[in-house]
Amino acid sequence: MTDKIAIIGSGYMGGGIAQVMALAGYDVHIADVSFDVTKDNRARLMKETADFVADDLFPADAVERIEARLTAAKDIETAVADAVLVEEAVPEKIEIKHETLRRIAAAAPGDAIIASNTSTISIGALAEAVTSPGRFLGVHFSNPSPFIPGVEVIPHASTDQATIDQACAFVHETGKETAVVRDVTGFVLNRLQYALFHEATQLLDEGVATAEDIDTLVRTTFGFRLPFFGPFAIADMAGLDVYNFCYKSLQTDFPERFATPRVLSELVESGKLGTKSGGGFTDVPAERIPELIAYRNKAYVKLNELMAELGPPPID
Ligand SMILES: NC(=O)c1ccc[n+]([C@@H]2O[C@H](COP(=O)([O-])OP(=O)(O)OC[C@H]3O[C@@H](n4cnc5c(N)ncnc54)[C@H](O)[C@@H]3O)[C@@H](O)[C@H]2O)c1
Repeated sequence: MTDKIAIIGSGYMGGGIAQVMALAGYDVHIADVSFDVTKDNRARLMKETADFVADDLFPADAVERIEARLTAAKDIETAVADAVLVEEAVPEKIEIKHETLRRIAAAAPGDAIIASNTSTISIGALAEAVTSPGRFLGVHFSNPSPFIPGVEVIPHASTDQATIDQACAFVHETGKETAVVRDVTGFVLNRLQYALFHEATQLLDEGVATAEDIDTLVRTTFGFRLPFFGPFAIADMAGLDVYNFCYKSLQTDFPERFATPRVLSELVESGKLGTKSGGGFTDVPAERIPELIAYRNKAYVKLNELMAELGPPPID
């Protein structure tokens, strides 16, 4: 029998997650504030699916596949009955999430995994509403969920390891990648995203560049690398000694904001300078460096071609 997945809250995120899960072959049941709202949301998702197919964004048979596997449930209790995974995607208010999670935990099978799509609320605080909280964790899809390939998985202090493994396995069935992070404020995604936004707004406030020029620089310089390499792989390729010098230079005007990170000093002091010396954050073996450089160059050329093909975003 096909595994049943329930998505509670069938708005923007829940709707996209439901489409992705149905395309992956699961039997998906959605529920919202009322049966009428759920039925309307299902109709919206089917119309959107047809548009995505017309634009070549979904497979050609997506309408038939999602039509067959997406059910509007009469209420939360019906949606979660017999489910193996329940994803909560109701508004980002702890009272609404607590109330919804209480109902889910009471009606779902005892061995079902219960997940929240929260972007900012502590998973530990949400877990207070879930009986047997070892089965509960954060499974945080990004917007737009049908198309963004990464999912942040956030266990709280007493989430069972089996829950984490199974939640990741469900997500992998959709073709998406997972990364497991600790339950801290902002998790990883938002801490990094807001650190960049914070510095960008400082540059704007100081009159260093316009918002448009800052965006251009992010897109076309260091941000251009980010679909392929994270900050650690990039630092290793640049050379950790180079990063160390840059920190010293930044400290002339910003001694505290750009204090050299401890882990960077330790690596440099022990002669681990990244790709050029071996050792560093990613520790690529010397014999694989030519392969890495060839991959990097190919990735950047292909990305440039894609950007030329798509043209600039219609922002102005
Ligand atoms: N929008 C984003 O960019 C984004 C990105 C990542 C994570 N998230 C998170 O995903 C969650 C949902 O956000 P969204 O953008 O889809 O919001 P949304 O407002 O589009 O959807 C929320 C849905 O929940 C329903 N709902 C409200 N109360 C409910 C209840 N008691 N029971 C059942 N359904 C109820 C609403 O009717 C609505 O359909 C939030 O936790 C949000 O922080 C949002």
